[in-house]
Amino acid sequence: MSAKIIDGKQIAADIREELKTTVAGLKEKGIVPGLGVILVGADPASQSYVTAKERACENIGIYSDDNRLSAETSQEELLALVDKMNNDPKINGILVQLPLPKQIDEATVLLAIDPEKDVDGFHPMNVGKMMVGEDTFLPCTPHGIVQMLARSGVETSGAHVVVIGRSNIVGKPVANMLLQKKEGANATVTLCHTRTKDVGHFTRQADIIIAASGWPNTVTADMVKEGAVVIDVGVNRVDDPSRERGYRLVGDVDFDAVKEKASMITPVPGGVGPMTITMLLYNTVESAKRANGMD
Ligand code: GUN
Repeated sequence: MSAKIIDGKQIAADIREELKTTVAGLKEKGIVPGLGVILVGADPASQSYVTAKERACENIGIYSDDNRLSAETSQEELLALVDKMNNDPKINGILVQLPLPKQIDEATVLLAIDPEKDVDGFHPMNVGKMMVGEDTFLPCTPHGIVQMLARSGVETSGAHVVVIGRSNIVGKPVANMLLQKKEGANATVTLCHTRTKDVGHFTRQADIIIAASGWPNTVTADMVKEGAVVIDVGVNRVDDPSRERGYRLVGDVDFDAVKEKASMITPVPGGVGPMTITMLLYNTVESAKRANGMD
């Protein structure tokens, strides 16, 4: 069996069309959702994410305030900019691109963002709300994965989901979201990580595998049950002299072999990636609605 490819680009485009309509409706009421973006330093991957976020905002009609700061920026300077955005009524969402340079303490910065503008869903208050199942901003990559599963007709209720990777950005929140007592969740979740003794022992029992380890070939075909759904969150550069730029992007899953066993699989690129930015736009629009008493 060759797996059905879950087209993240198409699902993301569908959601963005819905958002465009919502944004146009808000504009008629004089409301323009605004996103403040802060990038510190010149990490190439972060630069391309941030550029893609800015373009996506423009495309659906969200105002974006872009700030690219030098790698030497102090924590005080960054906190001052966050504070300015916290108090700017044109800004409904604040995004500080991670990782931050080593002179800046990430936890301090995340804590300084107004939880009402925390469209990344990284503030401890919003993380706590997510954990107890309250309405809040959901972190964008996990939320994108949950949306992808739902819009592809994948049943999560009672399914065994095995997540690989325990980051605060993907692994921990996606595990948490899928075990909630809610529609589109209700899964039995196993969270594997670098100290798990035999990851394959768990993944072979999985109905749904979510690979977010950050390493190519973390999931090979022998680790996958026939008919499983495989979501690949990885974006890894591997050398490829046949390409002009000298590398190509691969996920955490051995795609060519695993697609012969899985029932559905996400590609890299074109899978989870486009969903992340889309859910950021979604959160920004939601925030603008809330700020105007519309939610
Ligand atoms: N770095 C990698 N992913 C993300 C994300 O979703 N948000 C932010 N702010 N930084 C990131």
